[in-house]
Amino acid sequence: MTYDFDTAIRRRGTDCVKWDEAAPGELPMWVADMDFPTAPCIIEALRRRVEHGIFGYALVPESFYESIIAWCSRRYSWTPRREWMLYTSGVVPALSAIIRGITKPGDAVVFMTPAYNCFFSSVRNNGCREVHFPLRWDAGSERYSIDFEDFEDVMRRERPRVFVLCNPHNPSGRVWTSDELLRLARLCAANDVIVISDEIHCEFVDPQLGRHFLPFAPIAEAAGCKWVVANAPNKAFNIAGLMTAYIVCPDTTLRNAIDRAININEVCDINVFSSVALQAAYTREGEEWLNQLVTYIYDGYRHFRQRMKDALPQLPLAHLEGTYLAWLDVSSLGDSKLISKHLRREHKVWVNPGDMYGQPGFLRINLATQRQHLDEATTRIIDGLRSKD
Ligand SMILES: Cc1ncc(COP(=O)(O)O)c(C=O)c1O
Repeated sequence: MTYDFDTAIRRRGTDCVKWDEAAPGELPMWVADMDFPTAPCIIEALRRRVEHGIFGYALVPESFYESIIAWCSRRYSWTPRREWMLYTSGVVPALSAIIRGITKPGDAVVFMTPAYNCFFSSVRNNGCREVHFPLRWDAGSERYSIDFEDFEDVMRRERPRVFVLCNPHNPSGRVWTSDELLRLARLCAANDVIVISDEIHCEFVDPQLGRHFLPFAPIAEAAGCKWVVANAPNKAFNIAGLMTAYIVCPDTTLRNAIDRAININEVCDINVFSSVALQAAYTREGEEWLNQLVTYIYDGYRHFRQRMKDALPQLPLAHLEGTYLAWLDVSSLGDSKLISKHLRREHKVWVNPGDMYGQPGFLRINLATQRQHLDEATTRIIDGLRSKD
């Protein structure tokens, strides 16, 4: 079956963060959700559940875990064990509970910058010390990389308890290679650092990249590194509003501590619809929809990239290996906060400044929308940036 990602559906007036917080006429390309309806197989499963009409307290059935295990085995050749798994109401609540469970206040927690904004708050809210590890940006090759010597120095100097990995990385667009993941795992093992791998963007990898997403767990196992994974179908299937996530942690002591933190944080239930949606998503039908979606998104990215390069070749644009979030270097044009304000006010397009992610000088642009919106937003971005040039 061929799915339609081109027909725009009105989201204004649906209590949608992305569109209803935007001013009339403004095109929102900021918060990371997609303007596509979720997979029809999910909608159908939810419809059947709604028709039952009773939405009292619910159990999380064994089939929830079986779906996750089957999905990870089939797509990533990684088979997490049932007894390693916990669930909670989202990947951010998962990160927060994991950090709370396995650290003590004052412990150092390292993460790479630019970083997803909630990494900063999750570490801070749990009384830990944020240690930012800047990725190396090469504007010439338009690519981020890890300076492993620096990483080793940070491990030795800061003596962190935890390293939070974003795999694939938002907002640099990097899909880490096996060599990079193995080196990180070895350095963390050598320094007795536990790795939390946030894999929420794992389904978005450029089909033309020539590499796949690699789950961190098997690589960590090979390196003798302690790991915890947090993941969810929220991004891939555009169901973040249903609120679920799963945590995989093979170490019993750590897992018990995380379980306790989930309870203390009172995030130990998931929405009754989210369990239904996850199980419908992680099927062959869900996979077929997702594969077509990913092709659509990266076609859109190539189109966006071409237009940006034709119009503003001097602005480096990070190669989007993964995620649907483009990352544009506007440091040559001035202050990114002011530039994003200018784009909103004068050109009616809302993109996030890199400042939110610990890297001023950049703009993050959400490409997961219909081609007609993407085209119009690109025109506005180009006009707005040209007027700053
Ligand atoms: C790296 C990363 N983790 C987690 C989330 C949010 O996860 P959730 O909506 O499941 O809390 C996002 C959303 O953009 C993200 O980019």
